[in-house]
Amino acid sequence: MAKSGPKAKDPEARAAELREEIDRHARLYYVEDRPEITDAEYDVLFRELIALEEAHPELVTPDSPTQRVGGTPVGELPAVRHEIPLLSLENAYSPEELKAWADRVVDRLGRTPAFVCELKIDGLSVSLTYKAGVLVRAATRGDGTTGEDVTPNVKTIHAVPMKIGAAADAARKISSKVKIPAVLEVRGEVYMPKKSFVALNAIREEAGEPLFANPRNVAAGSLRLLDAKITASRRLSAFLYSVARWEGAGEPQTQTEALSTLEEIGLPVNPHRLLARGVDEILEFLDTWRTKRHDLPFETDGVVVKVDALADQKRLGQTAKFPRWAIAYKYPPEEAATVVTGIVVQVGRTGVLTPVAEFTPVFLAGSTVRRATLHNMEDLARKDVRVGDTVAVEKAGDVIPKVTRVLLQKRPKGAKPFSMPKRCPACGEQVVQLEGEVAVRCVNPGCPAQAAERIRHFVSRRAMDVEGLGDERIEQLLGAGLLEDIASLYALTRDQLAPLERWGEKSAANVIAEIERSRDAGLARLLFGLGIRQVGEKTAKLLARRFLSLEALEAADEQALTSVPEIGPETARGIIEWFARRPNRALLSKLRAAGVRMTESPAASEAGRSLSGGVFVLTGTLPRRSRDEATAAIESAGGKVSGSVSKKTTAVIAGEEPGSKLDKAKSLDVAVWTEDDLDRALGVPS
Ligand code: IVH
Repeated sequence: MAKSGPKAKDPEARAAELREEIDRHARLYYVEDRPEITDAEYDVLFRELIALEEAHPELVTPDSPTQRVGGTPVGELPAVRHEIPLLSLENAYSPEELKAWADRVVDRLGRTPAFVCELKIDGLSVSLTYKAGVLVRAATRGDGTTGEDVTPNVKTIHAVPMKIGAAADAARKISSKVKIPAVLEVRGEVYMPKKSFVALNAIREEAGEPLFANPRNVAAGSLRLLDAKITASRRLSAFLYSVARWEGAGEPQTQTEALSTLEEIGLPVNPHRLLARGVDEILEFLDTWRTKRHDLPFETDGVVVKVDALADQKRLGQTAKFPRWAIAYKYPPEEAATVVTGIVVQVGRTGVLTPVAEFTPVFLAGSTVRRATLHNMEDLARKDVRVGDTVAVEKAGDVIPKVTRVLLQKRPKGAKPFSMPKRCPACGEQVVQLEGEVAVRCVNPGCPAQAAERIRHFVSRRAMDVEGLGDERIEQLLGAGLLEDIASLYALTRDQLAPLERWGEKSAANVIAEIERSRDAGLARLLFGLGIRQVGEKTAKLLARRFLSLEALEAADEQALTSVPEIGPETARGIIEWFARRPNRALLSKLRAAGVRMTESPAASEAGRSLSGGVFVLTGTLPRRSRDEATAAIESAGGKVSGSVSKKTTAVIAGEEPGSKLDKAKSLDVAVWTEDDLDRALGVPS
């Protein structure tokens, strides 16, 4: 294992060092919850390792943190047989039922044993196998005897170490007393933190997609995906709670010992647990967590009580279905009744209209609830929530309030069904329901509710590429009344910007220069920047290359549009509709008046900066471009053109009747390209 200092020159040693560092910081962040570096610093380390591994693919190890991102999707999850079955637990729904269980335990043992109380994590149970300290397999519970192999998916969960023991200890710069067994099989729960759940649903809500009901369902779904890359994006986490197999010395003899051993090894273990000396202490634990659980960053639906000594567990054995030595106490789901005082409609950053019910404030699952989104028309129509109704409210994932049903017997006479407004409450323009969507949207490019998002997209690097206008500044300029839509960017002046807080002469001048420069970004970037729903970056490039000017594109009918490769009838209709809308036409004329270029020069904007840093030499006559045109195309894509071939030359671009430069290139082993190769590098579609 590399022990070299931070400036190790040898790529292999540096890669090993980075892996250790990243693992250590991942543990501090995800498992121990005490990070030592910022997220940005962590990213720097991660990117350095990615770059190093890209340059030296032979240095990639299967346990490298870069391998957490997930590989190619598998066809079907392979089945895994559990030699030691995963049992489920008997439930208790009241303190009395729990007491009765404890009495039975005491009866059978002839004494009162120590009990361990643990939080019941609401996720999906998994079984992890470490061999010689390396995670070799992760499987779902399945039916208890046969589960599914989800190893690549579990590897994307940062809380789960890919190695434990000696190798991991080196990275943590500690020497742990625990000897890692040759084979360790541990069981636990994969879950989705409340924060990840809220973030995921917010994205779906904005996109007008159906929402996930609770973190447990998403965790289960995400873990069983065939594409681990999606699993990685779901930000799952895990807690382990039992040792199923320990081959080697030092096997823990009690559940408390097992948990602290797992913790010491560096596995994620939930810290909230209690060694209870009797039923009263168990009941106290249940009481404490009944309300406190709502403040936790993950969902718990109860408490698992276990007999502590493994010898006692063995003596108690199991019934046909459940172990006798453990029970799951379940908290009843929390629900509150309240009155709907109003239904307001919000316009999201991307224009989706969302009806929101406002209530008489009511306390529920740890906080006061005042409002709940009714998501979309479909949801609202199904539940038929009306102003004045008394409704039952729950919290999805313990966080997001939701109306579960209307208590119809309490509906006041004359309560009217709610209907979605025909016009956007933020700008007054007509709203639309796009083909294939449940969401109703405002598509006005001048809508103030969407201004920040539209401007942010317009100035982004892949669109008009205006540097220096981040989210904060956009909000600031909107707030100051200096911006209202994307066209208003071109009316900004240095004198307006310089006196603003956190600006000054220099950044005002820079941003104005950037805005000026963006006037010439060309049609492809402009089209992408306009944020037409059907037009992504690639489609924008294809359209710009085919039509060359905005006028020509505006005039194109469905047939002309679908003649462009990859543009189907639906996209074509979406584009035609976009150009037909009055507010969009108004925006385009404002941009035109502001001097924004609405044409494409075939080489310039399409290429982006794809040749950045490259040095090229031209020789012979190219089939389509003159020497000047080729030079301009290369330079506008960030490359340089040189007159002579050297080892530093990226490629020699050879046409007909090439000169001695071609021979020189061959002798120096420099790449030789045709004009077609150049087109591909420029990103020019053929
Ligand atoms: S112990 C044989 N401990 O709850 C005992 N289970 O209702 C195995 N669960 O299938 C389970 N947190 O998926 C145990 N601290 C915890 C738990 C826990 C959540 C889940 C687990 C189990 C289910 C039983």
